[in-house]
Amino acid sequence: MQIKEILEGKKNILITGGLGFIGCNLIRSLLINSEVNIFNIDKVGYASNPNSIKNLLRENPQYESRYKFFRENLTNKEEIKKIIDHSNPDLIMHLAAESHVDKSIESPIDFINSNILGTFNILEEARNFYNKLVGDKKLNFRFHHISTDEVFGSIINNRFMEESPYRPNSPYSASKASSDHLVRAWNKTYGLPTIITNCSNNFGPWQFHEKLIPLTINQAINNKNIPLYGDGSNIRDWIFIDDHVEALIIAANFGKSGSTYCIGSENEKTNKEVIESICALLDKFCVKDYPHSKLIKFVKDRPGHDKRYAINPNKINMELGWFPKYSFEEGLKKTVLWYLKNIKSN
Ligand SMILES: NC(=O)c1ccc[n+]([C@@H]2O[C@H](COP(=O)([O-])OP(=O)(O)OC[C@H]3O[C@@H](n4cnc5c(N)ncnc54)[C@H](O)[C@@H]3O)[C@@H](O)[C@H]2O)c1
Repeated sequence: MQIKEILEGKKNILITGGLGFIGCNLIRSLLINSEVNIFNIDKVGYASNPNSIKNLLRENPQYESRYKFFRENLTNKEEIKKIIDHSNPDLIMHLAAESHVDKSIESPIDFINSNILGTFNILEEARNFYNKLVGDKKLNFRFHHISTDEVFGSIINNRFMEESPYRPNSPYSASKASSDHLVRAWNKTYGLPTIITNCSNNFGPWQFHEKLIPLTINQAINNKNIPLYGDGSNIRDWIFIDDHVEALIIAANFGKSGSTYCIGSENEKTNKEVIESICALLDKFCVKDYPHSKLIKFVKDRPGHDKRYAINPNKINMELGWFPKYSFEEGLKKTVLWYLKNIKSN
């Protein structure tokens, strides 16, 4: 099914955090592949990427009338109320969050404010808005909370599922777990029609270079050391951004109110394997007189570093018919080539 068909009947989508990595890829896809109006709230933090959308609009001015940006912090409840009323959404997709685990260890307060207080504010204003709706608009309204598999903590055997217990280990994952609980409670207590999705590690174009894959590419093309935590054996389950974006659109539109869906592509890799794969691609596409793997430098492990994340995506596969389209290798090649084209070496 095409994205346009999936979104049939939807006119306005309000997205929070739409200048971040996942948000900007989602908005780009919605502008290109549908006719919905997009309202984007983002505080424009250090990880935001305004060019991601500016570039698209410059090349495709016909999308401009369907896109409206609000530079606002979710902690500002009064302004959030005004934006929701102005945008009159059929669907709210809530992605805004502080998202970097290392930063959450250094400065947890930012994570409490954005991820917990920010989620509370948008939930409350979504509830006030929802309560005023009538008819089909009320029946079809959804609040979609975009979350992470990190809320489940670390797993040695088996894989995370929707019923897995919450065991967050970092201030980041604890703040996301809190926000998931708030969303659940707003559904159970106030009847707000919510969907929660918990996804594994994303990679692809427009990701800020603090995260493993863009950091590795950036360091390598600039002939700088590539840091690798501990012995490099921590395992993450990787999903290419386009697959996550499609899963989000499907879950937001076809997911059952009050449900949770785990999203993943069944691509478990150690951090060392990921970095070595990037180095091998760079050896091919950015030839130097030494192998890029020479730059790998083992560094002291991060405190509370989760050993393994792995998602069992059976529910979203079977209930909503979503399956990933990209293998890890295809996604990584696309990603490396994108960064080589879009990031200049120093
Ligand atoms: N990146 C991943 O691998 C991954 C995996 C699973 C889930 N998620 C979740 O998806 C969402 C988006 O992740 P991302 O990787 O795009 O993050 P990101 O850090 O790249 O972007 C987050 C965006 O949210 C904005 N933001 C943060 N706090 C805000 C606030 N208080 N008010 C307004 N805007 C605010 C930032 O300015 C930024 O543009 C997050 O909720 C994250 O927990 C991410």
